This record gives sequence, structure tokens and C-alpha cells, in this order.
Amino acid sequence: MSYPYQIKSVDQYNAAYEKSVKDPEGFWGEVAANFYWRKKWDKVLEWNFKKPTIKWFGGGKLNITENCIDRHLDTLGNTPAIIWESNDPEEHHRVLTYRDLHAKVVQFANVLKNNGVKKGDRVCIYMGMVPELAIAVLACARIGAIHSVVFGGFSAQSIADRLQDAKAEFVVTMDGAFRGNKEIPLKSVIDDALVQCPFVKRVIVLTRTRTAVSMIKGRDVWWEDEIRIVETQGNPDCPAEEMDAEDMLFILYTSGSTGKPKGVVHTCGGYMVYTNYSFVNVFQYQPGDVHFCTADIGWITGHSYIVYGPLSAGATSLMFEGIPTWPNAGRFWDIVDKYKVNVLYTAPTAIRSLMGFGLDPVKDHKLDSLKVLGTVGEPINEEAWHWYDEHIGKKKCPIVDTWWQTETGGILISNLAGVTPAKPAHATLPLPGVQPILVDENGKEVTGNSVSGNLCIKFPWPGMLRTTYGDHERCRQNYFATYDNLYFTGDGCLRDEVGNYRITGRVDDVLNVSGHRIGTAEVENAINMHAGVVESAVVGYPHDIKGQGIYAFVIYQGTHGDDTLARQDITKTVSRIIGAIAKPDKIQFVSGLPKTRSGKIMRRILRKIAEGEIDKLGDTSTLLDPAVVNEIANGRL
Ligand code: PRX
Repeated sequence: MSYPYQIKSVDQYNAAYEKSVKDPEGFWGEVAANFYWRKKWDKVLEWNFKKPTIKWFGGGKLNITENCIDRHLDTLGNTPAIIWESNDPEEHHRVLTYRDLHAKVVQFANVLKNNGVKKGDRVCIYMGMVPELAIAVLACARIGAIHSVVFGGFSAQSIADRLQDAKAEFVVTMDGAFRGNKEIPLKSVIDDALVQCPFVKRVIVLTRTRTAVSMIKGRDVWWEDEIRIVETQGNPDCPAEEMDAEDMLFILYTSGSTGKPKGVVHTCGGYMVYTNYSFVNVFQYQPGDVHFCTADIGWITGHSYIVYGPLSAGATSLMFEGIPTWPNAGRFWDIVDKYKVNVLYTAPTAIRSLMGFGLDPVKDHKLDSLKVLGTVGEPINEEAWHWYDEHIGKKKCPIVDTWWQTETGGILISNLAGVTPAKPAHATLPLPGVQPILVDENGKEVTGNSVSGNLCIKFPWPGMLRTTYGDHERCRQNYFATYDNLYFTGDGCLRDEVGNYRITGRVDDVLNVSGHRIGTAEVENAINMHAGVVESAVVGYPHDIKGQGIYAFVIYQGTHGDDTLARQDITKTVSRIIGAIAKPDKIQFVSGLPKTRSGKIMRRILRKIAEGEIDKLGDTSTLLDPAVVNEIANGRL
């Protein structure tokens, strides 16, 4: 494959950027021409940020799996598409060539069809990091079903909420998943979720941990049995469904500042073009490179840079089932050497946690195959950046600090590896085709350099979200109503003296804990479900490893003197309602919360207390009961 849209110098970057602004349709039309379309688009772009309506490559027909698999078969049939490293280093790894992947995706697509899944149906996928997860995702795309992958760390209640919101009648799961020294009982979590979801018609269960699970007659079937049925049917093919460019490809739920998580919708054509374009440019992909993205496919990073981006480029994507610290903190480095990984893409939280183990786990590794390092998910602190550069990249590998979001589909702001300059802790420059703008509280543009503001994007790019599933108004409200005619990211941002962007974190009530997005309102709702809780307020605070920790202030009735147990009860409740990723790190019992006279909780004050900046609480005179602030500050954990 060739990638004529790959930018190889600063001059080319500048020229591409200029073209993308002056003639966006010409720019993206040229990129999109490198894909396999059953029918070419009629119009590259139609858009209106007020409604919003965003249509890329309208009238174009395609199937993303033909671009990710079929078109590579002649040239890359024997090339590994997916290399899989098991949780247990002793278990044999698996390699799926593009030809193998084709066979498996087609087979499972037929399984889905046999089980009644049709184009447009929603399929919830709740699995661990095994190749079958990627296969299930691609099989859905093959037949035009809309996948909704739910991360294996979410609770039964979270799954039920997502199933109900998406009205998904089909689930693909596994008996259990291995993660480090733990086994996650996925099927049993699904069983609990389905008590609230009688509309689910079929659950397909892959065997992995071989733990006992309940299988309900008429509803639950084994993956392996279904494959055998397909084999006996003797039909080795499953032609790809022809999709409109703007047909939905998937839904992925993510947290916002209010209410329950929303289903971000991505569509077939634009998402394909954008993930591929950003993959090829940011990581400077070269044929033969082994790309190791350490994310879970349950998050957008895994969707875009384990599955769709690399595979559409014909790359070899490495999938890892386990965690970086098991059986020891050298696991990533073992994997890098074992498979001669060229690109390592991970999160600052992983880097910080590995830094904590010192250099012993790193030192016996060559790491000489590495060419590019990447980071994603949260701001990276300079210390972690330098450690990554020095000890992993040996100062020879450019680090790409990639800023983006579930909603953006792919990387929007990042240096291009070895092409445009890196700057520690800065995402640096927008990719050509991306037009960031900083605005002040009133939506007025902040121009010039050495400034800060709220980060917005003023022009569409192909990978952007189209709607939030089942509730378009929520999409408008959340992203397009804060500032007129702009997409609002929710992030604060600095622009340095030469125009590099540095993302400073969320300016809304969304936390970023170990790179996972969690809404404070969601955590509060979960805490408030606990029987003893009267009211709660949740804020973030700086955490050495997680980036942000969760600090909960809770008014509690009757701990009966056992605060520790009461805290454990609350934690358990949050795990049950959302999942272990949302457990508060600190729970402080208080007798009241700082509220304005109109009853609004003043989070600004709580944030300062949680951050330990007690001398910077600001004006507290408008509070209903200023005395409560002292009490809370004195009791700080
Ligand atoms: O605050 C930004 C932060 O992660 C948020 C998006 O989270 P999510 O949708 O879960 O997607 C994460 C993976 C793309 C953003 O609003 N974020 C992401 N990347 C960076 C970042 N903050 C600073 N620097 C980054 N490179």
C-alpha cells in the first residue's frame, strides 16, 4: 500500500495545512480517494454546527471491512494483521494473518446472521482483550450491525443502562477474562445486567477462562458451537454489506458532566478516512511496522488505533490481553523485545506507574526495535515525558503526545513523529484538516500566542461524532450550544509563544482518572444510592499515578462509629453501580456542603480543599453557611 497523503516534512505539513483550510473538500477528497468505495461520494462535505448536521462523503457507498481486510488480501494475505499476546506469558501467542482474519471475520459474520442479527441492529460486545473481540467488532461492521463495545471493567448496572439506551437485542461476551492475577466473570456480570433487559434475544459466549457459567436455553449460545454450525453450512463467504458513508458504524458510551453516559455515534466513511489518515501521519507508519497500542478495545483508543486505523493501513497490530505490571513491571518491555515492536502507544498513567518500579524492570531489555513512542488520554507531566524519552526511547524515538476524545474519533492535535517538532507535555500542532480555536468564557476568540482559553474546533473533520444515540438534542446541547458555531471540547488549553497547544485538562465536571473519563455527577448519583448517604459532592484532585483521583465529600447518616466500614460500603456501592474504575480514592464525611443561597454546591471551594489549597478558597461570603467550609477544610483527608 502507499500513502500519498503521508506528510514527510515540515514544509509538506505547512502546505497540507494551508490546503486543508483553503480547500477542505479538495483536501479530504484526495485523502478519501485512497480507499475502496463501492460508489464514490457525490459531495465531500455538508455541515451545519447549529443543528448540528455533519455529512462527509455523502452518497458514497462502502464497507469498512473491505478496506480493513479484503483489499489487503492480494498483497498482504500472509502478513500478520493481529499478533496477540496472552495475559499469561507462558501461554502461546497467536498470529492472525490478513487471510486468517478475513476467514474468521466472515465466519463470525455468518454466526451473527444465523442468530438473527441484521443491518442496523445494535450488538453489545462485552469481552476481554482476545482476538475474538476484534473479530466480533469487524463481523458487526461486515454485516452493517452497529457495535457498542462496553469495557470489561463496567458493572452490570452500567451494561444494563447501555443496553437499554441502545436498545441492543444482541450481546457477545465470554465466560471470563484474564487480567493479571484476576479472573473477571464477564458472563455472570452480563447475566445480572440482563435481569433488567428482557428484550435481549441472544447472547453469544466465547470460552476463555472455562469457568462455570449459566446458559439460558433459547437465549445463550456458545461461540464455538455456532462456528461449528457455520462450518457445516459450508458457506465460507459473507459478502460485505454495502453501507452509506453516513450509516452508523458504532456507538461508544462516554461520560459527560451531567446524567448518564451518552452514546457517541460514529459513521462508516468519515471515521474510516480519519482514523487511517491520523494513524499514517501521526505515527509515520512504514510498511512492516509492528504497532502496539496498549489500550483496551473497550475505549476509543482501542477502536481507532488497535482495530480500524492500523488494519485499514495494512499494518500489524499487537493486542495484549494483560496488564503492564503482571507478572512483573517488565511486561511491556518483554513484549516490545519479543515482537520487535516499532511503535508503542500508551497512557501517561501507565508510564507513571512503571516509573515507580525504577529501572530494574527495564534494564535487561534491548528496546532497540522502537522507532516511535506515543501517549494519549490525559496530560503528560514533564517528568514522565523525560523518563519515557530517556529510558524507553533512549532519546532516539520521537514522542507523539496525541490529544483527542471519544467524540473526535481520531487524533486531532499532535506532533507527527520525527516530522514536526515535539515539545515535552505539549500536544503541539493540529493535524492538517483540524482547525482549533481558543475562546474565553463569553465565546470570544482568544487570538495570538502565549494565551489560554477553552478549546473549540471551528470546522468539521471526517472523524467527528455525528450525534448521541437516540438523543440528538443532547449532542447539540453538549457540544454545539456552549459557543455559537463551534464544537466545544470541554478542555482548557494554552497556546505557547510559537503556537503549540498544551491541553491542561477538563474545564467541566468530568474527571480523568488513569486516562478514564468519569463524570462527577455519575459518581455522586452512585454514592447517593447507598442507603446511609444523604448527599454527596465529588471533585478531582491531583494524584501521582492516576493523574486525577476521586475525592468524595459525603453527608452520612449513622456510621455507628465505624467510618471505615461506612467508606467500604460506599465504595462497594459505586463499584456495583458504575464499576471499579469509579471508586472514590478518598471519602470525607461532612455535616454539610458549601452551598449558595440558591442551593447550588460550590465545587470550586471543594476542589481547592481537595487539592490542599486551603489558603486559596476565595470569596465564601455568598455561602448559605460559611462555617461549614472551615469544618470541611479542617477534616481534609
Ligand atoms: O481531557 C482530554 C483528555 O482526555 C479527554 C478525552 O477522553 P476520552 O474521550 O476518554 O478519550 C481518551 C482517548 C482519546 C480529553 O477531553 N486527553 C486525551 N488526550 C490527551 C488529553 N489531555 C491531555 N493531553 C492529551 N494528549
